[in-house]
Amino acid sequence: MWPDRRLLDLFKTEFPILLAPMAGVMDADLAIAAAQGGALASLPCAMLSVEKAREQVSIIRQRVSAPLNLNFFCHKAEPADPRREAAWKQRLAPYYKELGLDPAAPVNAANRAPFDAAMCDLVEELRPEVVSFHFGLPEPALLRRVKAAGCIVISSATIVKEAIWLEENGADAIIAQGAEAGGHRGMFLTENIAEQPGTFALVPQVVDAVKVPVIAAGGIADGRGIAAAFALGAAGVQIGTAYLRCPESRVIAPARLALAQALDNSTVITNVMTGRPARGVANRVMRGIGPISADAPAFPHAATGLAPLKAAAEKLGSVDFTNLWAGQAVRLGREMPAAELTRALAGAALARLSRMAG
Ligand SMILES: Cc1cc2nc3c(=O)[nH]c(=O)nc-3n(C[C@H](O)[C@H](O)[C@H](O)COP(=O)(O)O)c2cc1C
Repeated sequence: MWPDRRLLDLFKTEFPILLAPMAGVMDADLAIAAAQGGALASLPCAMLSVEKAREQVSIIRQRVSAPLNLNFFCHKAEPADPRREAAWKQRLAPYYKELGLDPAAPVNAANRAPFDAAMCDLVEELRPEVVSFHFGLPEPALLRRVKAAGCIVISSATIVKEAIWLEENGADAIIAQGAEAGGHRGMFLTENIAEQPGTFALVPQVVDAVKVPVIAAGGIADGRGIAAAFALGAAGVQIGTAYLRCPESRVIAPARLALAQALDNSTVITNVMTGRPARGVANRVMRGIGPISADAPAFPHAATGLAPLKAAAEKLGSVDFTNLWAGQAVRLGREMPAAELTRALAGAALARLSRMAG
């Protein structure tokens, strides 16, 4: 039995496991499969239009009857700064030259918009059981509307101070995101990456600081990790990287290969790909310009200058300029259908927990 049932009661899922929302590498298919396996399905909406998000939710609702988490970014939108963008293009110029691209050609702006009134209308229309945010919480008026729609609200904390802030501002559960985690750091009250605690240190300190249930995230990829999270006081886990190689994800073939070959020390935290710190398997541009560069334009504008390089390189089968977001436990990922993986993760965790209890 699970030692803490608070999340099971809150989400009404079979297992206290959340499929992490992973913008850019998944859609309805992975969410459906994870839900069929007993996890809380998440649909990342940060890179979707309202229409696309509505379509994806309708696909999920048609194919599975299970609770759903819609995930949004809620950073403060910063307008693109033409001077920084131009300097960034200059920095990337040797790559443009190598790939035969014109740095002066117009590029569509990077598409990671924060949660806004239009998305809030959609939440009111669709009433997902759970709404999760990354980078804090939206402005109070929008948050009130989400709560009034009956949604459970959760968000990521990377330090104890953020966890306390989230609880004080209405989060019903808190994702404690350790530094091992793949993807963007959810940090919003700190900018210092060097200070970001790992999951093992963060989870018990967040558990001590808040009353709401804590969901451990970062570096959890098998039954051992899940059992450890419960031992640290978490009531559940959010798992991303371990699901990336499932056949239902939208990870492109060369990225799958990079993930399959990655080792414990293959990932780094970089700001080069989007302008915000995120962990991924080191690629050529992260190594060449970063992993941290003061020249990277603010989030998400660094991605704009990289987009033509990414597209051209991917056509050649290369992930030199592709976000390979993944956490430090990438090596533990398995190529397995997501429903099966979910059941295997839960089964292994329960077996380990009962051995530890005995
Ligand atoms: C490929 C990838 C994309 C991600 N995209 C998002 C996202 O769109 N929204 C979000 O809240 N978190 C995102 N994350 C972070 C996860 O929510 C979570 O913190 C992380 O996956 C947990 O660590 P793990 O990858 O070691 O399991 C992403 C993570 C990965 C690996």
